[in-house]
Amino acid sequence: MIRSLRGMNDILSPENERFEFFINTATTIAKRYGFEYFEAPLLEETALFKRSVGESSDIVGKEMYQFTDKGGNDVCLRPEGTAGVVRAFIQNKLDKKGGIQRFFYHGPMFRYERPQKGRLREFHQFGVESFGIASVYEDSSVIMMVADILKALGITFRLKLNSLGCPECMPPYRQKLVGFLESVEEHICDDCVRRKATNPIRVLDCKNSSCQKVYIEAPKLLDNLCESCDSDFTTLQKLLTDNGIDFEIDNHLVRGLDYYSKTAFEFISDGIGAQSAIAGGGRYDRLVEFLDGRPTPAVGFAIGIERLLELIVMPEPIREGYYFGAMDEIGIDMVMQSAQKKRQSERVIIEYTAKSLKAHLKGADRVHARYCAVVGENELKAGTIWVKDLVEKSESVIKVETI
Ligand code: HAM
Repeated sequence: MIRSLRGMNDILSPENERFEFFINTATTIAKRYGFEYFEAPLLEETALFKRSVGESSDIVGKEMYQFTDKGGNDVCLRPEGTAGVVRAFIQNKLDKKGGIQRFFYHGPMFRYERPQKGRLREFHQFGVESFGIASVYEDSSVIMMVADILKALGITFRLKLNSLGCPECMPPYRQKLVGFLESVEEHICDDCVRRKATNPIRVLDCKNSSCQKVYIEAPKLLDNLCESCDSDFTTLQKLLTDNGIDFEIDNHLVRGLDYYSKTAFEFISDGIGAQSAIAGGGRYDRLVEFLDGRPTPAVGFAIGIERLLELIVMPEPIREGYYFGAMDEIGIDMVMQSAQKKRQSERVIIEYTAKSLKAHLKGADRVHARYCAVVGENELKAGTIWVKDLVEKSESVIKVETI
């Protein structure tokens, strides 16, 4: 038997309903914030991710589904959504248009990681990207949007916040950090020694607990921000507090992708195991320019859908539409015609097999139909349909022509 690949799941009942509920809820809220739907390909040139997510990141270094296609192109299944949206933004000359442009997207992402609970090789994200405004007001808006989505799904969360500085304050901080790392080199892991040379701030979120003990003494990013980053970070905190969003400052939150500057954030859910990050994002003001577009500030986030599924509190299913059935084989054609008419405006489920009235009522209940419409022997002769309203518990007989 052929099985699905490791770390790649089918989305079937009961997850499918939660998944769909998530997409509908997140879409409604994204539109409320002025974002419009956006779709980019799953397959892109490998160079796109190398240049945006960064060669030194784990995603590009270890986790890409990368191959040469039949035309000899070096391509890659997208490990995340931001790079593709930025590529499309530039390719379609939206960077020349100016103004604020806001997009949302959802779909599969691929990372060749070691699968475990909450960590898949094919997983789904819902993400947003806002272009054209360098303001912590927009940062706070996208953070509040994640909070709104999670609240609408009945999910409690912790929000972690940090600032990753800008081209003015980051280089001197990096130098300070490298100096510190050199002084503790014999106490840190080989990965961190490597990161010291490639991307030193990544040491700060090393999963190794002995490294973490050493980094308690490391110089802190937030103590080394320039005036503008510092004042932005203070304003961001005020905006979140004013709007009732609790947060924790996490000096070691650096994110696993290289394109961020200034605001960085992650939403955490306790109680789903080690892979507790349910959403992450931040500002990336230089990425558009770095990918050869007109300099355009941007901010965004992505929510990991699979990690949320078990946390979603589903609303009671509402009874909706019609269930149609016949009690004799001969009535089924009439049922088909009436049901097909009704289907032009309502949800309709048709049972093609003749069954007793009791069996049809059960069937209607199973599919959460509001009305159960049945044709029996008498109805067939009279050209009518018996209809029961399963909410009001009332019955009526109606002429087929008026259906
Ligand atoms: P990210 O933090 O790499 O950010 O991913 C966002 C979310 O995707 C994570 O918080 C997690 O919930 C989920 N996720 C990541 N890897 C896996 C996996 N292997 N299995 C299951 N879920 C996973 C980004 O991807 C950025 N593009 C977000 C962004 C948008 N920043 C700005 N704009």
